[in-house]
Amino acid sequence: MSNIVLIGFMGVGKGSVAREVVKNSSYIAIDTDDLIESMENKKIKNIFDEIGEAYFRDLEKNVAHWLEKSVDNTLISTGGGFYKQKNINKIGTVVLLDSSFKEIIKRIKEHPNAKKKLKKRPLLADLKMAEKLYNERLPEYKKLADIVVDVTHKTAQECSKEILKKVKKYV
Ligand code: S3P
Repeated sequence: MSNIVLIGFMGVGKGSVAREVVKNSSYIAIDTDDLIESMENKKIKNIFDEIGEAYFRDLEKNVAHWLEKSVDNTLISTGGGFYKQKNINKIGTVVLLDSSFKEIIKRIKEHPNAKKKLKKRPLLADLKMAEKLYNERLPEYKKLADIVVDVTHKTAQECSKEILKKVKKYV
């Protein structure tokens, strides 16, 4: 069993799917954003506001390096921009959670914690810019992915089962 690396746009449900994978398997889960927040003792939003995005991307690079060298048998959920790390395919089997931009925003807005979900993501503050980012990233996400899971109209549990089934070929 090697690592599974979950990638995909902000709000696509990486966290919820990761929790389901853990429930249905013996994987341990970690999240690159959580690692960065604890390393810095700061929320992602505050890192962006007080120090800047470039600094955050450097932290992601350090995390990517550490994951490749030191982590195994783990489900790693990543921030939406983590795909830029050049060693991502060396960290594990890359699984893209795929959905249209419209569906992602709909899902966030319908969530009981919608306000919090939008507030903690600086790159979702302007939805026009976020859509542009989505359109730029989607082909890159697809190029990197070993496995693509379309999450539209699926529960997190259904997605997790699909991942665990498809990932067997790679481990
Ligand atoms: C980002 C996504 C966020 C977080 C940061 C930047 C991005 O993670 O890493 O705000 O560049 O897409 P989520 O995808 O978990 O929201």
